[in-house]
Amino acid sequence: AERRTFRIAAIPADGVGVEVVAAGRAVLDALASASGGAFAFDWTEFPWGCGYYEKTGRMMDDDGLEALRDFDAIYFGAVGWPTVPDHVSLWGLRLRICQNFDQWANVRPVHFHPGVVPPLRKADHTELDWVVVRENSEGEYAGFGGRNLAGRGPGNEVALQTALFTEKGCERIMRFAFDLARTRTRRKVSSVTKSNAQQYGMVLWDEVFARVARDYPDVETESVLVDAMSAKFVLRPEDLSVVVASNLNADILSDLGSALAGSLGLAASANLNPERRFPSMFEPVHGSAPDIAGQGLANPIGAIGSAALMLDHLGLPEEAERLRKAIDATTGAGVLTRDVGGSATTDQVVAGVIERLGL
Ligand code: NAI
Ligand code: MG
Repeated sequence: AERRTFRIAAIPADGVGVEVVAAGRAVLDALASASGGAFAFDWTEFPWGCGYYEKTGRMMDDDGLEALRDFDAIYFGAVGWPTVPDHVSLWGLRLRICQNFDQWANVRPVHFHPGVVPPLRKADHTELDWVVVRENSEGEYAGFGGRNLAGRGPGNEVALQTALFTEKGCERIMRFAFDLARTRTRRKVSSVTKSNAQQYGMVLWDEVFARVARDYPDVETESVLVDAMSAKFVLRPEDLSVVVASNLNADILSDLGSALAGSLGLAASANLNPERRFPSMFEPVHGSAPDIAGQGLANPIGAIGSAALMLDHLGLPEEAERLRKAIDATTGAGVLTRDVGGSATTDQVVAGVIERLGL
């Protein structure tokens, strides 16, 4: 059989990002070495992040996007540290990559793991599993706006932060959501807006949703306002399958979803450029968690789950499934970090997953 080597750019960046990327790499390398040479990962690690910024004044190299362009995928940790303003670090690295590589679809599954007691009471007796599809290229994160103090005097500064909605941007994320719904047991897409209050962008979103839905008569739909959807996540999550929302709304809802499943440390995500003109990027949903960084406490499941999403993208769906089963077997056996009520270290969870790959 032909040996496939995948070139992966690793960007651990800051805080627990370093620990969880190392965790994911160890698991992926274990999978590869057990594949009998069928596939391998060729890693290149980039030192970018807040530490790099303190030394160079830049979050990443000026030609960093060029350096990343030809990789098969990017495996990302988390960016942000108290020494650098968060908007500088986020825009300087993660958003720069997402936006320039047109990773317009951000897929964030909400998965309930065996062995993790979730705060959601319903999870005890209901099969729960849904996925948040986040519009990842425009909306509230378009970066349009400005600040103006001139002529206003101290204490009177004004700032504008404008959300951008394009018909094309709305349409492509909705088609993505509907196509994803067709691969799932429950064929349903829930669209989330706040179009009662935000009457331009979100009304356009609603109109495009209704139009795209007509091309998918086999898929059930609903439109829900974001405040109501946050309640529905808690009260009627069994009614969800694919939830499509704008950049900011989906960001908030996916943190809620992962918290309901037990911890932010559990949630995986994929930033996809579906046309594959640029590399896609795989990262846990959580941030750099400065409060627990460097202590071996980080839950690596979100990063390892993101590695499974990367395997899907690289055309290794059976390996992805094998990895997901190993993750569930590990949590099911009670090998859990502190955030989900256990006492295992990051490394012990990694060892637990590798041991259960069934190799
Ligand atoms: P955070 O996600 O880093 O932490 C929130 C809470 O969740 C903390 O109590 C933390 O200990 C816990 N947590 C997060 N990941 C965990 C893990 N793997 N295992 C166990 N517990 C975990 O969010 P926060 O505190 O708002 O932000 C910290 C920094 O991360 C900021 O600089 C922020 O800008 C950045 N950030 C970066 C993101 C990214 O790179 N994609 C996403 C979100 C935040
Ligand atoms: Mg977030």
